Amino acid sequence: MFELIVRHANLPDGRSGVDIGVSGGRIAAIETAIAATAAREIDAAGRLVTPPFVDPHFHMDATLSLGLPRLNRSGTLLEGIALWGELKPLLTVEALVDRALRYCDLAVAQGLLAIRSHVDVSDPRLVTVEAMLEVRERVKPYLDLQLVAFPQDGYLRAPGVIEALDRALDMGVDAVGGIPHFERTMEDGAESLRRLCRIAAERGLPVDIHCDETDDPLSRHIETLAAETMRHGLQGRVAGSHLTSMHSMDNYYVSKLIPLIKEAGIHAIPNPLINITLQGRHDSYPKRRGMTRVPELMAAGVNVALGHDCVMDPWYSMGSGDMLEVAHMAVHVGQMTSITAVRSIFDAITVNSAKALGLESYGLAVGRHADFVVLQARDPIEAIRLKAHRLAVVRRGKVIAQSAPKVTTLMLNGRPQQVDASAYAPPVDRQ
Ligand code: FE2
Repeated sequence: MFELIVRHANLPDGRSGVDIGVSGGRIAAIETAIAATAAREIDAAGRLVTPPFVDPHFHMDATLSLGLPRLNRSGTLLEGIALWGELKPLLTVEALVDRALRYCDLAVAQGLLAIRSHVDVSDPRLVTVEAMLEVRERVKPYLDLQLVAFPQDGYLRAPGVIEALDRALDMGVDAVGGIPHFERTMEDGAESLRRLCRIAAERGLPVDIHCDETDDPLSRHIETLAAETMRHGLQGRVAGSHLTSMHSMDNYYVSKLIPLIKEAGIHAIPNPLINITLQGRHDSYPKRRGMTRVPELMAAGVNVALGHDCVMDPWYSMGSGDMLEVAHMAVHVGQMTSITAVRSIFDAITVNSAKALGLESYGLAVGRHADFVVLQARDPIEAIRLKAHRLAVVRRGKVIAQSAPKVTTLMLNGRPQQVDASAYAPPVDRQ
């Protein structure tokens, strides 16, 4: 009756020692000690089984291009954008597809099975769009890839982009993007949002804006985005990515802004890895961290989903497709070290991200897709602490990646001794 049973699993919601039965690519049972047997069984042995990681903000067209055509010497956002501008005329569909597929392999191996990627539409040739549409088709059996038409050089600022964005959407790109803080003036930024939200409403598409990725406390495009979202009835379908200016804003203004974001049903998508490196660059000391106000947004009931943004590209030379690394950084930058806060950060790379992307049938519940990851950790906190090793990745009931537990053999006292970082029992919260 079951094609796969995972036994003795801990779940992110705190259930422990349960079995998960899979039938027809969907979860058919979650209960203690399923009596039946299955063609394939995995013993999770008290380890965490989580729904797959979801990256709601990435740049698949730029990934793994580090060093092309040269390295980012300053490490700044502006040199990164300039460098990407140098690389763009040299891009080919073949090279873009090749790099993106290699990244998708890396992602799947890490249990990352859904990604929203912004695709630059500033070059009217749209080779990036052509390539990413091909990648979306090729990875469909194992990875959900959503594409956003992203005018990197400015929707109103760069020539030909208004038409190029429309063409990208005609070609089948899933969502409307924008970058209001990069337009020439605040008014142009606001006008770009008015136009982009109208396009999304007319076409019935979601919106995902690179919004206020700056340290300028007066960059308030998120306010316009919220107002336009409500004007067009787009609540729940709009994401504000980055929102770093909120870090530097006046507290009184933020006390008005966060309820507005909540009212508009906007998903907030901070990208802690890249923004801790890019923000505060004009500061001497003290240096601002630049990440948006994650705990406050969460406390207000805003859906906060964390993105990876970049891996080895003109903006970020680090990264490995590991959403637990993203979560780890968010815990530190946001000072979110309480038990509740760390658990909420785990949600931000799983269920919250899935909600931001509107994924269907996501999560560990009977009837949902049998998509999950077995981690070498017992609970979400340990998973983030260790950036836990992935033991098995399951998609639609099939094991698509697996690896042996990560254990090191020490030879210190003449006899071998095995060290498993996940073998230290996590403390019990007795409150
Ligand atoms: Fe981005």
